[in-house]
Amino acid sequence: MCGIVGYVGDGNVYDILIKGLHRLEYRGYDSAGIALGTPSGKINIYKSQGKVSNLEDFCKDKNLEATSGIAHTRWATHGEPSDTNAHPHFSEDGNLALVHNGTIENYKVLKDALIQHGCTFHSETDTEVLVQLIEYIKLKNDCSLLDAVRMALKQVVGAYAIAVIEKNHPDKIIAARNSSPLAVGIGNNEMFLASDATPFVEYTNECVYLKDGEIAIIEKGEPLKIVNLDNRETQIDVTTLELSISQLEKGGYEHFMLKEIFEQPTTLRDCIRGRVIEGGKKIMLSGVIDGKEKFLNAKRIVIVACGTSWHAALLGKYLIQDMCKIPVEVEYASEFRYSNPILDEKDVVIAISQSGETADTLAAVKIARNMGAYVYGISNVVGSSIPRETESGTYIHVGPEIGVASTKAFTGQVMVLTLLALSIAQLKGTMTLEKISWLGEHILKIPSTVEKVLALNDKIERLSMKYTYAKNCLYLGRGFSYPVALEGALKLKEISYIHAEGYPAAEMKHGPIALIDEEMPSVIIAPKDHVYEKIVSNVQQVKARGGSIIAIVNEGDEIISKMADHVLEVPEMPECLTPIITSIPLQLLSYYIAINKGKDVDMPRNLAKSVTVE
Ligand code: F6R
Repeated sequence: MCGIVGYVGDGNVYDILIKGLHRLEYRGYDSAGIALGTPSGKINIYKSQGKVSNLEDFCKDKNLEATSGIAHTRWATHGEPSDTNAHPHFSEDGNLALVHNGTIENYKVLKDALIQHGCTFHSETDTEVLVQLIEYIKLKNDCSLLDAVRMALKQVVGAYAIAVIEKNHPDKIIAARNSSPLAVGIGNNEMFLASDATPFVEYTNECVYLKDGEIAIIEKGEPLKIVNLDNRETQIDVTTLELSISQLEKGGYEHFMLKEIFEQPTTLRDCIRGRVIEGGKKIMLSGVIDGKEKFLNAKRIVIVACGTSWHAALLGKYLIQDMCKIPVEVEYASEFRYSNPILDEKDVVIAISQSGETADTLAAVKIARNMGAYVYGISNVVGSSIPRETESGTYIHVGPEIGVASTKAFTGQVMVLTLLALSIAQLKGTMTLEKISWLGEHILKIPSTVEKVLALNDKIERLSMKYTYAKNCLYLGRGFSYPVALEGALKLKEISYIHAEGYPAAEMKHGPIALIDEEMPSVIIAPKDHVYEKIVSNVQQVKARGGSIIAIVNEGDEIISKMADHVLEVPEMPECLTPIITSIPLQLLSYYIAINKGKDVDMPRNLAKSVTVE
């Protein structure tokens, strides 16, 4: 997965592209490059391995004059991260430069055919095949770049968002998409192109999200034109962006991750706003109202997601089964898509994805729709692919999440799943009005409760020192706290590179207990709930083997607090709402441990924010 930026206009092309690449660095950061179309009819390409800042250093003494340009921040799929494999790629004769996000599945067949025709390849990427193919078709048919792109894309199998510039037309970009996102920003006498709207939000709020199979012709002084692969003009739907610049900056925090953890009272307020009404008595989720009949008649709900979103999905299962009495299955989207799933029109499939672009989740959505299931999406990024491919859905409204480790999106997803379960229960009558209204009242208190939990920050920072050099760590929880344990362990491993495992606490005695000794700390999530007594005995078992314990308990806890080495107390909440509260100390703990180890928490090694390849 990679990020693309493009610009045509009178502004400072280089500055706009570099700033845009920084905004998209969450999509990949193993190499970056820029192609500048000069007024004299040249294309200058500069590339550098590593983060966008390396590219900036490399460009310091270069000629940066340009009227248009395309740029790319890469996450390697075909070919290792290197200067050569970085985008943009030139065509053989240097007439075209191209950037690409996605994977070309039939690149080998195309490459072999082009080699037969005399093309030489310099990189190991599938992208170079695209640019060579377009140039080959252009020369062979003596046609325009647009026609060559159309003809080339008809031969391509796979996912792509591309942008191409041509030496002789430095004021024009041709861009196209299939399964990888691409947005065009329409400014005043200037146009932008990017994998999402964040690179151009400070210049314009007019945005067009390209659809699969569309090609945009972005030309200085001309209105935006969009055609399909058969060159028929398609309708242009302009969206007004509601993003603000302050949402994209660190706002005084050292890292996006910390900012995003501290934003949670606000993001949860935004997520709840207008959805819990009449003081908590009524839950209104428009997506559920749209799909009312489907939810009422669902014989089963299948939730598909990846990573952190999968942990939220697991909580969704507990919530929906408990409140709505509908059987729920939770699947990793990557497994689901290859498991010959059995679905029909009586099934509801819920796809959860912060980015709305995760390739496996998107593929699962398409499979479910083809099999006749009703598909509902829970996403954060407005206009992304999953919300557009699903029949109805809900945005979590937590604002852009830039830190690679998901924090505020997780709590937003859990919040939306809670509201979803409550609104279905309300429609089905599977819960009493008193219970709904009691939970509704508590939901309204969640943002202020999260503020109280964040006051643990300094204590957690001090505590983190003691565990910075742990080699392994176990996270244990039962019931609603089990997915929280999984999520806590994922947070620790992805940003601090400490091996961590989340486990249902009772399962510990079937294996993991063998690992416990003085070197193996356990984080135990034990709020006062219906399995509290059970987890007390799990704590005793860890203690008896000399393991040190960090316990997340409710204020006033007297039993586990006495046994644990360190205690983090959080306010009590109804059981089904505790995951939002108990996950926050775990986010802070991983953050500080990673910081103590000097790790780059916002861009951990080998990880990217949205995984748009298989
Ligand atoms: C972990 C993390 C990932 C994502 C996963 C799915 O902190 O962020 O595990 O949750 O890649 O991404 P989305 O939700 O965008 O589909």
